[in-house]
Amino acid sequence: MRAIIDILSDILGEAFKSAGYDENYGKASVSNRPDLCEYQCNGALSAAKQYHKAPIAIANEISELLLSGKYSGIFQKAQPAAPGFINIDLSPAFLAEHLNAQSRDDKLGTDEIGKGKKIIVDYGGPNVAKPLHVGHLRAAIIGESIKRIYRFCGYEVIGDVHLGDWGLQMGLIIEETRLRHPDLCYFDPDFTGEYPKEAPFTISDLEEIYPTASSRSKTDEGFAAAAHEATFRLQNGDPGYTALFRHIINISVADLKKNYANLGVTFDLWKGESDVQKYIPDMLADMKSKGFLYESEGAGVIDVSEPDDQKEIPPCLVQKSDGASLYATTDLATLLEREKLYHPDGVIYVVDKRQSMHFLQVFRAARKTGIVRPETLLFFLGFGTMNGKDGKPFKTREGGVMRLETLISDINEAVYDRIMESSPDADPAEAKANSKIIGLTALKYADLSNQPTKDYVFDVARFTSFEGNTGPYILYTIVRIKSIIRKYGEEKAKQATYVLPAKSQLEKSLQLLLTRFSDAVLCACREYAPNRICQYIYDLSNAFNSFYHETKILAETDENKKAGYIALLKLTERTLGQCIELLGFEAPERM
Ligand code: ARG
Repeated sequence: MRAIIDILSDILGEAFKSAGYDENYGKASVSNRPDLCEYQCNGALSAAKQYHKAPIAIANEISELLLSGKYSGIFQKAQPAAPGFINIDLSPAFLAEHLNAQSRDDKLGTDEIGKGKKIIVDYGGPNVAKPLHVGHLRAAIIGESIKRIYRFCGYEVIGDVHLGDWGLQMGLIIEETRLRHPDLCYFDPDFTGEYPKEAPFTISDLEEIYPTASSRSKTDEGFAAAAHEATFRLQNGDPGYTALFRHIINISVADLKKNYANLGVTFDLWKGESDVQKYIPDMLADMKSKGFLYESEGAGVIDVSEPDDQKEIPPCLVQKSDGASLYATTDLATLLEREKLYHPDGVIYVVDKRQSMHFLQVFRAARKTGIVRPETLLFFLGFGTMNGKDGKPFKTREGGVMRLETLISDINEAVYDRIMESSPDADPAEAKANSKIIGLTALKYADLSNQPTKDYVFDVARFTSFEGNTGPYILYTIVRIKSIIRKYGEEKAKQATYVLPAKSQLEKSLQLLLTRFSDAVLCACREYAPNRICQYIYDLSNAFNSFYHETKILAETDENKKAGYIALLKLTERTLGQCIELLGFEAPERM
């Protein structure tokens, strides 16, 4: 469906052309003076230079054409304004018709710009056997939203969690387990039977084993060396260690799935670093034979600097002097596998922005060595840090790394208190259930409403407020609309499908904003910016609430007019609902 702005630009182009000017001057934009008009065209100002005419004269000519019979019914106003602007207001009937067409469209008028294209989103990136902490939160929240936005825009999207499951943490856990239970069959080199299906530890054991092993390795050199040795043996296929590794993965993944589900985050692929190790030997040999990979101070590196670089880009390190592979090696092998299995048009990485150098090196190395095709998009969406009110990375009161579960339960509690404060006779059970939905929304909205690349301060009190630019405010608006529709009668509301031409300025403002849904979504998609959608729903919620405060909806005596209002409310609710789905949260029935 064509957006209003494009329809207007077409008409303006036609008008410029028929008046003898280049049609490219006929571009419409949303007014930057909403007090004066809804849309504007600045083309007369530029055309004036080319045609040596006064801009206002051209603006005059074009305005007259717009108001001529040819375009009757479209404009309420087309007015030249000094020095050469054309100020435009739409006719309410045209606007309402546009909205009615939009509401008949599944995608609310959004073009599927990604049809036929496949994108992989690499997000989450948790490290197996280590508990999720707030640092992993943004990767999950932003990545989930990017996945949904791209899917909505017609792309085929594969979300991959890309587990960190191939590092020293595995050797540490294995070695610690050996210390505690040296008699387990996994450590018996002569064992030939089948390894047990049951793991020798639970998730809570693992949560204790890893930190214990990690601190032990810092004070006990012998242990540290043994953990390295264990990692090496695992990476070289030791059967007992591999069996133990499988247990660690299975237990961790089950726990991660549960945690992500609580966040409303899901993945299509649960692959990890360990899955691509099999490609590495051939990949490195190939890079070597083609002359990309060479030895420097004992290590294997690929040059990735380019002549136009403003700063030095160090070579990409892919092989340590002992032959071991590195983070970059694994990421290159992962790209290789993705190309082989999925042949994507693009890969988007949602990762902490402090890893930007790593990804720059990996992307360049992948292009240079031909692992990805030249036209494949590789995009690093690096996000900033979530800080506490002190401006430092979010910590527990004791100063430790905050676990995700703790953060979420703190937020839910704050929301619960707020609900009970504002409505003391609320049913505590319902309030508990709602505080989960609202708390998660508060958290996600706080995260997504900021530009991903920026650091931001997470202030629980501010983000759980029901007023201002917060998630709860958006939910509150949706719940308010639902409640009006319930009072009107849900069955009856099904018949109310036609939005009527706006009678008041506030109603028209609301309708105009509704037509801008597709702009917001497409912009969020093109700019990797869920914050665009947050800004949009904040504006839309404000526009709705202003309209609501000024308008008697249920008390309207003209049934036809009332049905028109309900149609407008339904479309507003659907639009807000679609937006929050793209952001990854949902609204309760009541609040
Ligand atoms: N596991 C990594 C970390 O915790 C993040 C992985 C990001 N994705 C990737 N393809 N490297 O830092």
